[in-house]
Amino acid sequence: MNVPHDNQASRHRLKIGTLELEGRLIMAPMAGITNLPFRLMVKRLGAAMVTTEMISAAGLCRGNRRSLEYLKNNRAERPLAAQIFGARPDEMAVAAQMALEAGADVIDINMGCPVKKVTRTGAGAALLKNLREISRLVTSVRLSCNAPLTAKIRAGWSPGYPPFREIARVLQDCGIDAITIHSRSAVQGYSTPADWSVIREVKQEVAVPVIGNGDVFRPAQGIRMMEVTGCDGIMVGRGAVGNPWIFRQILSLEMGQEPREPELQERRALIMEHFSLLADTMGEHRAALSMRGLLIWYSKALPNSSVFRGLVTKIRDLGSLRDAMDRYFSSLEGCRP
Ligand SMILES: Cc1cc2nc3c(=O)[nH]c(=O)nc-3n(C[C@H](O)[C@H](O)[C@H](O)COP(=O)(O)O)c2cc1C
Repeated sequence: MNVPHDNQASRHRLKIGTLELEGRLIMAPMAGITNLPFRLMVKRLGAAMVTTEMISAAGLCRGNRRSLEYLKNNRAERPLAAQIFGARPDEMAVAAQMALEAGADVIDINMGCPVKKVTRTGAGAALLKNLREISRLVTSVRLSCNAPLTAKIRAGWSPGYPPFREIARVLQDCGIDAITIHSRSAVQGYSTPADWSVIREVKQEVAVPVIGNGDVFRPAQGIRMMEVTGCDGIMVGRGAVGNPWIFRQILSLEMGQEPREPELQERRALIMEHFSLLADTMGEHRAALSMRGLLIWYSKALPNSSVFRGLVTKIRDLGSLRDAMDRYFSSLEGCRP
């Protein structure tokens, strides 16, 4: 899969253990979204590091086909963080090794997923409830891999429990190289706005780099998060889905330039590219199903988005996507998003 590189340079660097990133903007792990095609696109558009979807350590240890597929990567997207989840220290250690052998540069431990299917096994955000479990699990992974190791946490399981500053300190004591903090507790889900003061407090608590996460939807919010929290890097999730240009836009602001909105034709070309990269990895039919969901995100920035959504709900292959795009974009001639 060949994707040309038109990344802008950033003068900022983020060091994670022995790895120095050429920038400080990171694409968040997102199940169902940050597959190889999407990662290649955001890398090209300015993300300094991309992250896989969360991968089950138990699945990897059992040789589960889907879990192994999540590890597939491409040199053009590196440096790549592989995010693994699990509750068993021994399985997590093996999974980390497997991810490194598959080409990952960084291992990220998921301690933030609030989905019941994950937490009832003791994994994801459930780990946050017990500092001793965190310590056992992270130490096991740390001892098994000498690559850069990060953890992605939420601000505790519930507000104030356990205190997120303590979680951060335990992680640091176990040898974590950087901490990403999504500034809501697990039980809050997305019900409240992200509380960036949490990021600032974690930054004050530990010496390792802190990556802030939560509610960066506009380029200026990325700069603002760094200013108000002092965080070393920022991780963008939903703000990049449908607007993968957000990384390029934040980089422009960092350089004192006005961020440029992509032209309609550029949006159209990227959507087509996204589809064709997905089709390369999963076939046209599955790519079309996956694209239906993604087009809802892409449509948010487009004029007459309801018309667009109506046209794309039935796409089933490249031909029907191209037809829908032709009809929609020709109806917009002369408009800007
Ligand atoms: C569809 C979706 C899938 C996600 N999958 C993961 C995941 O696999 N691992 C993880 O740590 N977080 C996952 N998250 C959480 C995001 O990485 C991020 O922490 C969260 O969305 C807050 O950041 P944002 O406001 O920039 O989106 C997911 C979020 C969404 C919306």
